[in-house]
Amino acid sequence: MTSPDPPAIGLPIPSSWYCLGLARSLPRGGIWRRRLAGRDLVVFRSESGAVAALDAFCPHLGADLSVGGSVKGETLRCGFHGFCFGRDGGCASTPYGKKVPPAAQARTAPAVEVNGLIMVWHGAAGEAPTFDIAPISTDGWTDWREASFEVRGHPQEIAENSADVGHFAAVHDYADLAPDGPPRIDGAALRVAYTFRRTRALLGMSGQSIRIEVLQHGLGYALVESLVCDFDLHVRQLVMTQPLGDDRVHLRIAMSVDRNLAARAIHPLLAWVPSGWLAERIADHGMGDFRADVQQDVPIWSHKIHLPRPALADGDGPIGTYRKWCRRFYPSVEGGAEAS
Ligand code: FES
Ligand SMILES: [Fe+2]
Repeated sequence: MTSPDPPAIGLPIPSSWYCLGLARSLPRGGIWRRRLAGRDLVVFRSESGAVAALDAFCPHLGADLSVGGSVKGETLRCGFHGFCFGRDGGCASTPYGKKVPPAAQARTAPAVEVNGLIMVWHGAAGEAPTFDIAPISTDGWTDWREASFEVRGHPQEIAENSADVGHFAAVHDYADLAPDGPPRIDGAALRVAYTFRRTRALLGMSGQSIRIEVLQHGLGYALVESLVCDFDLHVRQLVMTQPLGDDRVHLRIAMSVDRNLAARAIHPLLAWVPSGWLAERIADHGMGDFRADVQQDVPIWSHKIHLPRPALADGDGPIGTYRKWCRRFYPSVEGGAEAS
């Protein structure tokens, strides 16, 4: 049975950094076409390796810069008449060799490369970035495995998952879930930690005890640092939203495994298996389990509505604290987006 379309979510798109793809997928000279918060963008990597994001449509006569465009040095050359735009959006040259028209200025969006990701800033009120995504050292970790979903939803609603204690048992069948202290807030960063027991298969086994710490940095980026206690195995997961507009989200998830693992702790028969090799296999396999977990959330997100004043119960987890913190990401909304 198909359900009718739910009403609009009714939240503006919050000010945050949003991931538009893995950095390794954008080589020097590469160009992406992306949509972010109703805005059409091109993201390119210059020949020196720097990344920039510009409005997709050329300010000269409106060509799509990703269609026939190419990277020339530090600029993006439009395929229609050959005007070249720098990373600051300024027109660096025209093929006519005359003075460039002052109005030929492409609008930019702040873009950075961090933690192997290309992140682009959306300011709800047009403001510049108000925080930076915390860098992590990826030395000794496997490359990110990734998967993505097109879902109906909203960054705040999807990120609320990590504060929503009740759904972990109901949707994901996690058992014995216990918060590991209260949420910690530091400006645009919110951290929550839990321990639980996994009843669904992980790496073909079930029942492992897991400790996770979720760092929600802004509303588009969540880094989950997990310890699979029985295996002494450290795993990182990313949950990142790219709001397209109209309640549509491109959801990216990624996983990486610490290559410094104790193979013997995972299974005695693995004692002689090289740990780096094993970490790569665990990342491949674990990514399938992670994707299956997120797939359990997708139908809920796709059909739920946003309740500004939810009927919260004891045991729901720190949803109220989370929503209060979320207000900071809506500078254009008087008093924040939430009334509760
Ligand atoms: S439309 Fe881009 S150079 Fe003319
Ligand atoms: Fe979930």
